[in-house]
Amino acid sequence: MTLNNEKIELITDCTIDRKDGNIEFAEMKNSRFCAVVSECDFSGSEFHRTNLSGDYFESSDMSGAYFEEVNLSGAGFERSNISGAAFTDVNLRGAAFEGCDLSGVEITDCKLDGMTVNGYDSSELIEFYKNNHKDNGNMKKNARKAIIAGNWKMNKTRPEAKALLEELKPLVADVKSVEIVACVPFTNLETALSVTAGTNIKIGAENCHFEKSGAFTGEISADMLAEMGVEYVVLGHSERRQYFNETDETVNKRTKAALAAGLKPIVCVGELLWERECNITEEVIARQIKLDFFAISADDVKKCVIAYEPVWAIGTGKTATAEQAEEVCAFIRAQLAKLYSEDVAEAVTIQYGGSMNAKNAEELVSKTNVDGGLIGGASLKAEDFTVIIKAAENG
Ligand code: PGA
Repeated sequence: MTLNNEKIELITDCTIDRKDGNIEFAEMKNSRFCAVVSECDFSGSEFHRTNLSGDYFESSDMSGAYFEEVNLSGAGFERSNISGAAFTDVNLRGAAFEGCDLSGVEITDCKLDGMTVNGYDSSELIEFYKNNHKDNGNMKKNARKAIIAGNWKMNKTRPEAKALLEELKPLVADVKSVEIVACVPFTNLETALSVTAGTNIKIGAENCHFEKSGAFTGEISADMLAEMGVEYVVLGHSERRQYFNETDETVNKRTKAALAAGLKPIVCVGELLWERECNITEEVIARQIKLDFFAISADDVKKCVIAYEPVWAIGTGKTATAEQAEEVCAFIRAQLAKLYSEDVAEAVTIQYGGSMNAKNAEELVSKTNVDGGLIGGASLKAEDFTVIIKAAENG
């Protein structure tokens, strides 16, 4: 295969091996490679910290190539053999693959939003990837958008809420790959919605009732929230279960009511310390998942977020280790696969919550099955919350 020389616009600082008139790329390091390339042999080549953004490769052989810290944002690949290639820490945002052989490709810790394969968006790639490479967790993780949600609990007056969100807005304005949510007290919803209008910060409530309307003094219905423009609602938080006698049955009813109103429920599950000590964490979680999502369709479950919040870690400063969080989040995913299907399990965002903070977030969200966090205390400080959001961007 030969490189189509006329079409190359610029190559700098590259190591190029010339053999028999063909150009074989042995190594491309710290390079800007700005080109339209056709019928080129890059098989087995290594690309390190190379800028290939916006470049276009057609009918080329890139099988077994290795890309590390490469910028491939907006790059195009057509009818090329990319089988067995490995992408590590690569920016593939907006890249497009058309008619390429991608079998056995390994994608680890890459940015994938806006990437397409044969016109399918990266969010639909779970299915594609399952067929091509069964056990690369990171690819699946990256296909799910991480959600970092603040749970303000019973904190902040309206002026305080306004001040916190005003401080947060510019700090996170450039964040695209993480969904940012602030779940605030009912009295702050209107303020929060107006302060964040037109920004990348979504607003959620901290609970809703399961009836549509009626004689339920002091309660707020899902329809009332949806009508305001609220997008998310926390349900079944352990504080609600503990102090307000909420049960899996009412959490299930609330989840159904929220879904019917078009809200995205963040359903909280988690074991008590005593239950962990008795070694029944899995039984407790399995029961909660089964009951909280009872008679909820697969399509509706995909609209839900599940927050794994070990009760002993909430507000105590005692965080679960990243391994414990990963273990239970993976267990929840396995339960969803059992109750619904692999597809549903891979689509659902599963957060960790419980003393997640600016220091421990990075390790927690780096785990394959931890798709973000539900943050209490640390969401009340704009700077700490921002650090957590940025950790999820990289996680
Ligand atoms: P915490 O709360 O981060 O303050 O532990 C988490 C939560 O209750 O969702």
